[in-house]
Amino acid sequence: MCTMISRRNFVLAASGAALAAAVPRRVGAAGTKTNALKIPQLIKGSPAANKVYQLGIADGTSKFLPGLSTPTCGINGAYLGPTVRARAGDRVTMRVKNDLTEPTTLHWHGLHVPARHDGGPHQVINPDQIWDPSFEIRQNASLCWYHAHLNEQTGEQVLRGLAGLFLIDDDASDALHLPTDYGVDDIPLVIQDRRFNADGSFEYLSNVGDIELGYRGDVILVNGTVAPHLELQRQRTRLRLLNGSNARIYSLGRADDAELVVIGTDGGLLERPVRTRRVRLGPGERIELLLDMEPARTVKLMSYPASSGGMGMMGHGMGVDNETFQIIEFRAGRLEPAAVSIPDRLIQVPQWNPVQAARTRTFTLDMTTMSMGAMVGPAMDGSMGINGRSMDMDRIDERVPLGSIEIWKIANMTPLTHPFHIHDVQFRVLDRDGGPPQPYEQGLKDTVLVDPGSTVRVIAEFADFADPDHPYMYHCHILEHEDAGMMGQFVVV
Ligand code: C2O
Ligand code: CU
Ligand code: CU
Repeated sequence: MCTMISRRNFVLAASGAALAAAVPRRVGAAGTKTNALKIPQLIKGSPAANKVYQLGIADGTSKFLPGLSTPTCGINGAYLGPTVRARAGDRVTMRVKNDLTEPTTLHWHGLHVPARHDGGPHQVINPDQIWDPSFEIRQNASLCWYHAHLNEQTGEQVLRGLAGLFLIDDDASDALHLPTDYGVDDIPLVIQDRRFNADGSFEYLSNVGDIELGYRGDVILVNGTVAPHLELQRQRTRLRLLNGSNARIYSLGRADDAELVVIGTDGGLLERPVRTRRVRLGPGERIELLLDMEPARTVKLMSYPASSGGMGMMGHGMGVDNETFQIIEFRAGRLEPAAVSIPDRLIQVPQWNPVQAARTRTFTLDMTTMSMGAMVGPAMDGSMGINGRSMDMDRIDERVPLGSIEIWKIANMTPLTHPFHIHDVQFRVLDRDGGPPQPYEQGLKDTVLVDPGSTVRVIAEFADFADPDHPYMYHCHILEHEDAGMMGQFVVV
């Protein structure tokens, strides 16, 4: 079942040349059988006054490949978890029971909750234990998610299946009459990549590239479905995508090269829809799309090399994620017509002016074995860290005054792209090397891609939940980097 893997058991090679990335198969290609997309069960919680959600974490067995079964973990099921649906203003209690034979945690990624309820590495749930954090939903309508976050074991536990979606509704988004019929015209898409051993089990950390570059698989799963297709019921469908992969960055586009209509980011809707041929989505990031379907057609959602589609980017570094492959095929069903046209304006996205910022903090990402120039980081014990230090559960790295607005500047001197994630807040991306972020990044976000040699500035307000004793995390969301120490802790005081 589970192999406990510690970063300290690995000696990391200095050479990047030996690190071959796995190439995804041409899923859904001619002659390949496709499978109907699985839709995670929706749970709404009850009773209304304080909604209680039951989440049971357990081992299971899943079938992904013909004739093989795969040992997995899931929440209320064998692989992944249900979609939790709640509303801004709700008081919710998450009753999380650990039926595994090992400790785990469950972190509410993207949620603005007190640190002691955040489900990070300090909120360990031991076997047979119940953890029941209770909090108010105080944020915009958005697609957030939850996943295991055990120190040094996040990559392995998420790989086995410990992740699910957390959907938040509010009045402002309801007023727009966007599709919200879950599983009918509002479709969740959790995109992941996996490799398999001959016995059907997931292959993990079998080469040094898995840690240095992050884990890449050659089979794409969407909601745990291999080679998925979905027959659409309505002329207009909302697609809510989560990159739930450990490390792979997708550059999404349509096979017919038509534009994607982006309406939302990690933390909510954009101010207005953005039309673009490519959207880059790093681990932990979310994007919401509207897809208008025509009768008798199919639309293939693909992933392309990062530099294609006129994005003018240098790629993700070291030649990773430069393959072209299909993610899912949408087919036209009976297609009930859409009631309203796509609104020109969506919501007013909260915005902070850099002059309001009390201070700027700098976070320099380190990979001592793979730095671009001279070795960075004075005294790194591990190979990966931030500002020269690897994650230490007993060390608070930053103290942020309650109520302050701050600019966090993330500098990447490594040869790889890293998705930088901050707990507690939803931020705005100010700039990337002084230039504007992509139009589809101009909403609330909690995770942002930082390319090799570049610096990204984000701005956020730390408005609530002062607590000197319980830290929040910030880290690279390549889970192997996080587990290797590219993570730090901050408290709000
Ligand atoms: Cu999605 Cu600290 O995690
Ligand atoms: Cu998080
Ligand atoms: Cu990283």
